Amino acid sequence: MAKLIDGKAISAQLKDELKEKVAQLSGMGKEITLAVIQVGADPASSVYVRNKKNACAYIGIESLSYELAEETSQEELLALIVRLNQNEKVNGILVQLPLPGHIDEDVIIKAIAPEKDVDGFHPQSVGAMSIGQKGFLSCTPAGVIELLKRSGIEIEGKECVVVGRSNIVGKPMAMLLLRENATVTVTHSRTKNLKEVTKRADILIAALGKPKFIKEDFVKEGAVVIDVGIHRQENGKLCGDVDFDNVADKVSAITPVPGGVGPMTIAMLMKNCVQSV
Ligand code: GUN
Repeated sequence: MAKLIDGKAISAQLKDELKEKVAQLSGMGKEITLAVIQVGADPASSVYVRNKKNACAYIGIESLSYELAEETSQEELLALIVRLNQNEKVNGILVQLPLPGHIDEDVIIKAIAPEKDVDGFHPQSVGAMSIGQKGFLSCTPAGVIELLKRSGIEIEGKECVVVGRSNIVGKPMAMLLLRENATVTVTHSRTKNLKEVTKRADILIAALGKPKFIKEDFVKEGAVVIDVGIHRQENGKLCGDVDFDNVADKVSAITPVPGGVGPMTIAMLMKNCVQSV
């Protein structure tokens, strides 16, 4: 059985470190405020938003909640972002994705002031990350790097294969692994002979968004497997992009779902908030 990479424990440690830092900042008269915007009431988004607000409360960050109706227009949402950009009390702005279909996510993300873009989704943040300049790092990929480092897994020189090329996980994940001096391959739905490629991985990152897609024949013996996916199964239980039970005996370390990457995403959001003051 592989070693379990405990994202819950590692994120708890990270949050405790941040809590101390926030207390120190508060002692210096610096308070942190995060504006959290949700449009509509998608149940999964509501859970994420609640978890983010709870993390803020635990660490000592004030969160301002904007729960907007599904029918909110793009102009109304933009007007709110402009107000929050101008509000000196607000350090970070988070717009929970996905947005309803009538709102253009790219336009919204671009409207957030880069110095308040604690999700790290603004093109300026993504560009800075890609060329190693200062800026907010996208929370999920940054959480994966932190998880590997805090588990004592070396990245430098390793063959890393990312499955999935989304803007919020796959692409920034590849850039961050590269920054850590890994040899990086990005695969996607049009990749030929996917299994042949994923089997080369010392570290395999699954972020394709298909439940239990990665089976034992996709992984090399002794590989490290990081599962970014999260899906609700028909039996009500959560699972990842990796078929955990099928893969666990073959690999050296693996993240569970839930309790792997998910809590790290929130911890890294908190880290970005602390960095925003
Ligand atoms: N939707 C899925 N993941 C995320 C995330 O990290 N941030 C935001 N804002 N929305 C998301």
